[in-house]
Amino acid sequence: MEILLEARELTKHFGAFMAVDNISLQVRKGEVLGFLGPNGAGKSTTMKMLTGFLAPTSGCAVVCGETVTTGNVAARARIGYLPEGAPLYGEMTTREFLSFIAASHAIPRQEVADVVESAAGAVHLHDVMEQRIETLSKGFKRRVGLAAAILHAPDVLILDEPTDGLDPNQKFEVRRLIEAMSVDRAIIISTHILEEVDALCHRAIIINKGHIVADGTPSELRARSKYRNAVTMLVPGENAERVASALKRIGGVAKIEAASEGDKMRLTVLSAGNVDISESIGDIAAVSNWQVSQFSVDPGRLDDVFRQATESDGYQGKNHSEKEGHA
Ligand SMILES: Nc1ncnc2c1ncn2[C@@H]1O[C@H](COP(=O)(O)OP(=O)(O)OP(=O)(O)O)[C@@H](O)[C@H]1O
Ligand SMILES: [Mg+2]
Repeated sequence: MEILLEARELTKHFGAFMAVDNISLQVRKGEVLGFLGPNGAGKSTTMKMLTGFLAPTSGCAVVCGETVTTGNVAARARIGYLPEGAPLYGEMTTREFLSFIAASHAIPRQEVADVVESAAGAVHLHDVMEQRIETLSKGFKRRVGLAAAILHAPDVLILDEPTDGLDPNQKFEVRRLIEAMSVDRAIIISTHILEEVDALCHRAIIINKGHIVADGTPSELRARSKYRNAVTMLVPGENAERVASALKRIGGVAKIEAASEGDKMRLTVLSAGNVDISESIGDIAAVSNWQVSQFSVDPGRLDDVFRQATESDGYQGKNHSEKEGHA
C-alpha cells in the first residue's frame, strides 16, 4: 500500500532538552497508526512536526511525497490536524469557526456552507452551531476540533488524542468515524486509552523520552507481555493452596499470582518463556478434584507491555522475557 505519511529521523531539541530523538515511521493508505507513550514522551511534539506546525531540529516529514515545512502550503493542504486541547478562537461560534477554517483552506465561498454542514454533521455538532466555542463542554470543543480537521477532506489525518474528554458514546462514535475515514486515508492518532489500540489501530508505536521503544501490530505487541499464555482459573478458596502447590510442580510454570474473589481464589499461572502450558494444566485439573469454575488463556496485556516499555530507559522493545528477572 501507498505510503502517505512518513517521518524521517525527526528530532527536536528545546534548548539543551531533546524532546524527540530520531523518530522514523511510515503510515500507509488505509492504515491507522496508534501513537502511545507516557505524558511528556514527545507525541504532540512529533505530531506538530508531522503537520508542519513546528520546524524539526533535524530530519523531516513527508506527506504524499511532499516534504512538509512550515511554509509548504501544498503539503499542509493534504493534512488534517487535530491539535491537543481545545480549538483557538473561543469567542467565535461553532459555525463561524468552521467557516473561518474552511476559508483558510481556500474552499470556494459558495461551497463553504455545505462543507461546514457536512463536517459538523459527521461529529454531531448541529445543536451547537450558533454557540460560542468557549461556552461548549470539553467533549463538544473536541468535536469542533475534529470537524475542523476533516473539513477539507485531507488524505492524511494527524489526531492528537481525538477521544480525550468524550463520553463513552461519543468515543464509540468518533472511533467509528475514524475507522470509516481510514479506508482511503492514512491516520495517526495519539492516545492514552489502550483499548483504542485494539478497537482502531492496525499498528502501534510506543515512544518514551523521545525514542521509539516498541512498534508492531496490537497482537505482536501483546505477545511481548509477561501474561502471554498465562492460564487463569477460579477455584474454591479452600482448594487454592493445594492447587497452587500442584501447579508449581508442572514443568514450565514460572510464577503463580493469587487474588481472592468472594469465597473463590483466582489463580494466574505465568509460564516460563510464555510457552503454552494450558494443556498440561488442563490435563492435571481434569484428573484432580480442583473444581475449576473458569479457565482461560491470556493473549497478553497491552498495559503490561506499555509499562515494560516505558518504565526503564534501557528497554528497547525486546521480548520482556529476555530481561525479566522477577518472575
Ligand atoms: N515549546 C516547548 N519548549 C520547551 N519544552 C517543550 C516545548 N514543547 C514541549 N516541550 C517538552 O517536550 C516534552 C515532550 O512534550 P510533548 O507535549 O510532545 O509530550 P506528549 O507525549 O504529547 O505528552 P502528553 O501525553 O502529556 O500529551 C515535554 O517534556 C515537554 O515539556
Ligand atoms: Mg501530547
